[in-house]
Amino acid sequence: MPERDEPNPLAAGLSQSLLAQPCSLAIFGGSGDLAKRKLVPALYNLALDGVLPANFAVVGIGRSDFDDETFRDVAREGVERFSRRRLDANHWPDFERSLFYHRGSVDDPASYAELKARLEKIEAACGVSGNRVFYLSIPPDRFRTCAEQLRAAGLVTPSDGPGPFTRIIVEKPIGHDLASAREVNETLAQVFDERQIFRIDHYLGKETVQNILVMRFGNAIFEPLWNQKYIDHVQLTVAEAEGVGTRAGYYEGAGALRDMVQNHILQLLCHVAMEPPWSLDPDVVRDHKLEVIQCLRPVTGDDVDARVVRAQYGAGFHRGDAVPGYRQEEGVGRDSTTETYVALQLFIDNWRWAGVPFYLRTGKRLPKRASEIAVHFKDVPQILFNRDRDAPLASNVLALRIQPDEGLSLRISAKLPGPQVQVYPVKMDFQYGSTFGEQSPEAYERLLLDVMAGDATLFMRRDAVEASWAWIDPILAAWERSGARWLPEYDAGGWGPVEADRLMQSSGRRWRTL
Ligand code: BG6
Repeated sequence: MPERDEPNPLAAGLSQSLLAQPCSLAIFGGSGDLAKRKLVPALYNLALDGVLPANFAVVGIGRSDFDDETFRDVAREGVERFSRRRLDANHWPDFERSLFYHRGSVDDPASYAELKARLEKIEAACGVSGNRVFYLSIPPDRFRTCAEQLRAAGLVTPSDGPGPFTRIIVEKPIGHDLASAREVNETLAQVFDERQIFRIDHYLGKETVQNILVMRFGNAIFEPLWNQKYIDHVQLTVAEAEGVGTRAGYYEGAGALRDMVQNHILQLLCHVAMEPPWSLDPDVVRDHKLEVIQCLRPVTGDDVDARVVRAQYGAGFHRGDAVPGYRQEEGVGRDSTTETYVALQLFIDNWRWAGVPFYLRTGKRLPKRASEIAVHFKDVPQILFNRDRDAPLASNVLALRIQPDEGLSLRISAKLPGPQVQVYPVKMDFQYGSTFGEQSPEAYERLLLDVMAGDATLFMRRDAVEASWAWIDPILAAWERSGARWLPEYDAGGWGPVEADRLMQSSGRRWRTL
């Protein structure tokens, strides 16, 4: 438990967060899956915490033939099934009153005029004075139409005017390569100022990801060691047990490199590797993160084969049940060369990280869901307790467990009790669950709150998205050139292909067992 005379850390965290301003949140794609599974449950939990503004309305927009009542029923079902906290029957009627539905199509200009009239009515009833957040939970190829129509209907206020604010939230994928990402960003920039655009990378909303900076810069003991003098290498794993599921339509055109590495994993890397920002101002933090991406050594030409492994899952087992290989999944081409697994080695060519390899791996249908960043420190000199070259001491490893089982552990050497000097690796362990008790808020809770408060720290800035693609593009280009008709396979339920092990072994290292 927290120290006794400390304030309750969860309450302190909430009171420190910026205040969400009264606003309406209009969700395009409001009758869709994201709204039901993530957005509404997140808003409900914010309401339970009492941090939603008193004057607030959610307006789901979609083509489904819903009315306010149906939308509320679907929302209720979403909360019952997906919320981290149970639905409280006493509280629900209050929350439900702020939910509305507007039937309309993204493509139909008339819908926007109707939406404007509806919003004005709802806002008058809910005491909202024109602050608006538009959530584009729609395919990226509809962004342009939606943004332009919002402007044409007079639904976008200038970012620097004295009047109410307009903000827009977009989800990944922001493009599928650098050129298309620029196009999406340009489209949005025609209508919105960068300060009005909130690009979600939901990994940044995870408590454990936010904790990386607190751990690094809120403690005196890590930062002096956080560099090439003391760190041997870093391993970053984002493992998923699930397969492609029902998302083959999207995933076939994406693959693990685009789906996970370009965004979530490079963002995690930025948090681990960035220089200390001098303030928590959103742009100062994001400038420092951007520098990491700019310092990534390009992986091009022959280097791609040497440093990047891609693979696809074959048939295997998931929790004891036989599961099909990727090519046999519904909606996947029988000759698909979409990678479901990527492992790579990269370098950050700056003073701090010169020569330190970072190993990244991510895949679907691995043995379990487990994401972790493991910082491996250099060995102690081979004298005293580390003299035996055949049985070297285990090095210190700081493991930041992103999910599940959130926490961090430090592996250190200790003396085994007894008359002889025998050294044994032991772990110092911090677990969120046992320390803070309550389940951590979901990423979308924090992110939605931040948009309403106007804090963009945890959102992707245009330059970072484009810099990530600029680094990813040559890898994609090399893969395209190779014209592979077959990828290395790994068994579903296994830890990836042997090629990924070789990537490590060539430097005398190995992947951690999670
Ligand atoms: C999404 C990817 O962005 O992140 C999915 O598109 C992936 O393919 C998901 O499964 C993983 O998110 P989380 O929060 O479950 O680790």
